[in-house]
Formats: sequence, structure tokens, C-alpha cells
Amino acid sequence: MGFTTVERTAPDGLFTAVYRGLFTPSFPPEELEAEDVLAAALRDGSANLFAVLDDAGEPVAAAFGDWSADSRVQLLTYLAVGPAARGSGIGGRLLREAVAAWAVRRDPCLVVAEIEDPDAPAHEAHGDPRRRLAFYEAAGAQVLEVPYFQPGIGGPEHRVRGMLLLVLHAAPQLRHGERIDGEALRTFLEDHLEAVEGAVTADADTEALFAALDRPGGVPMGPWRPGR
Ligand SMILES: CC(C)(COP(=O)(O)OP(=O)(O)OC[C@H]1O[C@@H](n2cnc3c(N)ncnc32)[C@H](O)[C@@H]1OP(=O)(O)O)[C@@H](O)C(=O)NCCC(=O)NCCS
Repeated sequence: MGFTTVERTAPDGLFTAVYRGLFTPSFPPEELEAEDVLAAALRDGSANLFAVLDDAGEPVAAAFGDWSADSRVQLLTYLAVGPAARGSGIGGRLLREAVAAWAVRRDPCLVVAEIEDPDAPAHEAHGDPRRRLAFYEAAGAQVLEVPYFQPGIGGPEHRVRGMLLLVLHAAPQLRHGERIDGEALRTFLEDHLEAVEGAVTADADTEALFAALDRPGGVPMGPWRPGR
């Protein structure tokens, strides 16, 4: 069976099919923004969608990304492969294609992704967090040493704690050895919190996260270690 990767920069029937057929079953509801929010991000030019289609033109995998121009950080917001197609290399290929396209298009930039703590329990539909981390590490991802939480969709009370923030690509200007530019990450997180939660609140979790981003010399990254 042949597969083709296509891109969308405006909401259409393919976007709807991806959202409803791939993203909704693959992510817990607290991690997935509403369809109209993703559609609006496509419409305002800050987001794009890559989809892998099978011979029949049906989407079997998709990657959705949001660009923060102020910080020059590209977020891989959602990546999913339909359950029937998992484990055959499609996700890895799409991940590499998407990161390579963003790295060239947005140069210089960081490409980052949020994933669940590998110690979280596996879920039949949403996958196994340990295998998911291995999947990203195989593509060269490094884990930022920050106490990350996914901003709460609709407000801080909906945050998903114990997440990891991964670096998938770092332009030389934003990388200092094994450290990443803290200012770019801080600007990105402020934008991200404001966009998702509606404001940046001064609570203990946000302060701990910002303190980790403001470390002199940048934010260390490396392989994941249990209990980090
Ligand atoms: C994670 C995911 C994108 C991988 O895509 P894929 O096409 O299955 O992956 P590939 O065939 O390229 O690579 C295989 C590797 O992917 C990972 N993987 C495969 N199925 C997985 C699953 N159900 N859960 C977690 N990781 C999985 C494993 O690391 C696997 O290697 P292994 O077989 O040696 O353990 C896909 O399984 C998926 O959509 N999962 C649900 C949604 C998700 O977790 N998205 C990423 C978080 S943003």
C-alpha cells in the first residue's frame, strides 16, 4: 500500500476527518483542544497540519503544529497514527518529515513536543507512555529538565501534571552545548499558557517552571531518567 503526505493550512474536510477519526480517539479529552480552536489556529496562519493518506485517500496518520513567532518555538501539538496502522513505521516517518519541514521553514527555531510521563499507566487507545518516549528518543528527542505540566485547556484547574517537554530540533543559535536558550522557552511558555489557560497565573507550579527556565546558561536537556 502506498502512502502520501499532504499539508493543510486551512480547515477543510480532511482536517475534520483527522480531528474526529484520529485525534479524538488517540488523546484523553483533557489533552485535546476543541475542534474549532484548532480550526481557528489554522485559519489565522499560526498552525499547520500534515496528514498521511492511504491509497484510498483516507488519513492514517497526522501531525498538527502551532508556531509561536515571538519565541521562534514550533510546538508539535498532536501526532497520531490510526490504531490499525501503528507499529509499521508511519509515525516515525511523519515525525521526521514534519520536524525537518518546520526546521527549514522556521529557521532558526526550536521544535518541541509535550508527552506524558513514562511512569504513567498505559491506556489501550491512547498508548503506552514508555513506548511513546522510546519512539521520540529514536527520532533524537531530548528531555528538558523542567517540572513541566500541560497548560489546562479552559483554565489552570485542568492542567495535566507530570508531563515532559521534549526538544526535537534546536537551531545552533538557540542551543548552548547541551542547554537550550531559556529566554526562548520562557517566551514560548508564557504565550502557550496565555493561549490555552487565558492568562499566566502566579501559582506555585508556574513559578517552579519559570525558575527552571530562568537558570543561568540555559535549560539542560538529556535522556529521560526515572524519577527525574
Ligand atoms: C506514538 C505513535 C505516534 C507512534 O506511531 P507508529 O506509526 O505506531 O510508530 P512507528 O511504527 O514509526 O514506530 C514504532 C514505535 O512507536 C512506538 N509505539 C507504537 N505503538 C505505540 C503505542 N500504542 N503507544 C505508544 N507507543 C507506541 C513504540 O516506541 C514503537 O517501537 P517498539 O515497537 O519497538 O516498541 C502512535 O503509536 C500513536 O498514534 N499513539 C497514540 C497517540 C500518541 O501517543 N501520540 C503521541 C503523543 S503527542
